Amino acid sequence: MQKLTAIVLAAGRGTRMKSALPKVLHRLLDEPLLSYPLRALSELGIKKQLVVVSGDQDGDQVEKSLSAFSALEWPRQTQARGTADAVMAALKTLDGISGSVLILCGDVPLLSSATLQRFYQKHQQSQSQLTILTAVLDDGGSYGRIILDAEGLPEAIVEAKDASSEQLLVARINSGTYLVDIDLLRRALAETDCNNAQGEYYLTDIVAFARQNGAPTAIFDILDHREILGINSREDLVDLEKIMAARINRYWLNHGVTVHFPETVRIGPCVKLGLDVEIDSGVSLMGQTEIGVNSCVGAGANIKNCKIDNQVEIKPYSVLEDAVVEDNSQIGPFARLRLGTLIGAGAKIGNFVETKKAKFGKGAKASHLAYIGDAEVGEESNLGAGTITCNYDGFNKFKTIIGNRVFVGSDSQLVAPVKLGDDVLVGAGSTVTRNVSDNALVTTRTRQKELAGRGMAWRRKSEEQ
Ligand code: UD1
Ligand code: MG
Repeated sequence: MQKLTAIVLAAGRGTRMKSALPKVLHRLLDEPLLSYPLRALSELGIKKQLVVVSGDQDGDQVEKSLSAFSALEWPRQTQARGTADAVMAALKTLDGISGSVLILCGDVPLLSSATLQRFYQKHQQSQSQLTILTAVLDDGGSYGRIILDAEGLPEAIVEAKDASSEQLLVARINSGTYLVDIDLLRRALAETDCNNAQGEYYLTDIVAFARQNGAPTAIFDILDHREILGINSREDLVDLEKIMAARINRYWLNHGVTVHFPETVRIGPCVKLGLDVEIDSGVSLMGQTEIGVNSCVGAGANIKNCKIDNQVEIKPYSVLEDAVVEDNSQIGPFARLRLGTLIGAGAKIGNFVETKKAKFGKGAKASHLAYIGDAEVGEESNLGAGTITCNYDGFNKFKTIIGNRVFVGSDSQLVAPVKLGDDVLVGAGSTVTRNVSDNALVTTRTRQKELAGRGMAWRRKSEEQ
């Protein structure tokens, strides 16, 4: 399939979403809708991929939002005048190209690469010049109806809005996905007009054109018709999101991962999980997250774009984004690891600890109630409850560097920029503003005063008043 040219149609308005955001940028499991067909195309190894977007700022926004997909071409459709017009915009840039073209819609996220592969096999085996991906539904709704000849080959597609009551009874519908010989496509599109109920240039008219010109056509009925469902409204979006989430969870259940109460768990399409990973209820794993073997994620944890290594325990309700956690570490419950956090092997980050741009060495600990930002914490160092790196003076950020085997007593503030050497011991309740040398003990709190017998005296005085 590598040699195919793929055209994805994504220039439609999507008015039924009632949104300022272009439809194909709405998110399904935290990835833009359009990324779904694009991933399927990459899985098939299709090199030449064109995405037709609108000529205005919506088109710019779509192109920018999908910049992670490299080597795409972005032809522009100046006005949304119909699906045929959209394909025409792509064809203008395909002079001299021959072979088959795969046409898909940008708002149909569930279509899998495996189905597309079978669709392509059918196209080749039937020696068709135009094959339509079709589905048989109980109710064809607003989909175009496939009109077959006596031999069961397609001779036309009739849009629901143009169909007679008899044609509306046809159960086989058009998914909007086609494989077509590019020369046939060029000739057919040159002849399409907009004499129809919607006043649009219909891509579906190429079927009748093919038949009139003796080009062989075929259909391929999809097994699971849910794959061809498109998104037109927010209700559609959440319905399909549920189907996609269930599909992904089932995949992981079949690949050595336990997902408890899977109907409550959301795992994005780019997430990678190792063997014997265990995921509890209400967990969300999104973006480019990777989790290594034997790690577990507790209930309600939220993880996005993180690399979690092996045997890591993420306890309930922790929130991690853009962080790396190395082998055998423990995180949470209720921990928050933000951008640029690196937790070394065997380290421990406990409840109500927030980290940002912080690097914890092997075996380092911050077990309770701490803010560690713009910091390096050496190996085996222990930050007591209430340790705070004061990294911000209201204008700029500064760094705190803590050596190996340092012990920071509870409720201490480390006012950056500041550096603590190896084996330093900071007394509880200290405010450290200057660098501390290796192996020093530092305290900054005032010495404790004790006034003998004054406790009761103070109480009596208060009562007299
Ligand atoms: C189309 C098909 C219909 C099929 C259905 C499947 C036509 C005429 N009809 O109808 O037979 O059952 O898809 O979902 O093709 N687009 C553009 N530019 C435009 C118009 C549309 O890029 O000017 C894009 C849209 O962004 C969308 C796709 O083409 O991704 C389909 O357009 P849409 O308006 O949803 O077509 P349907 O009316 O659903
Ligand atoms: Mg549609």
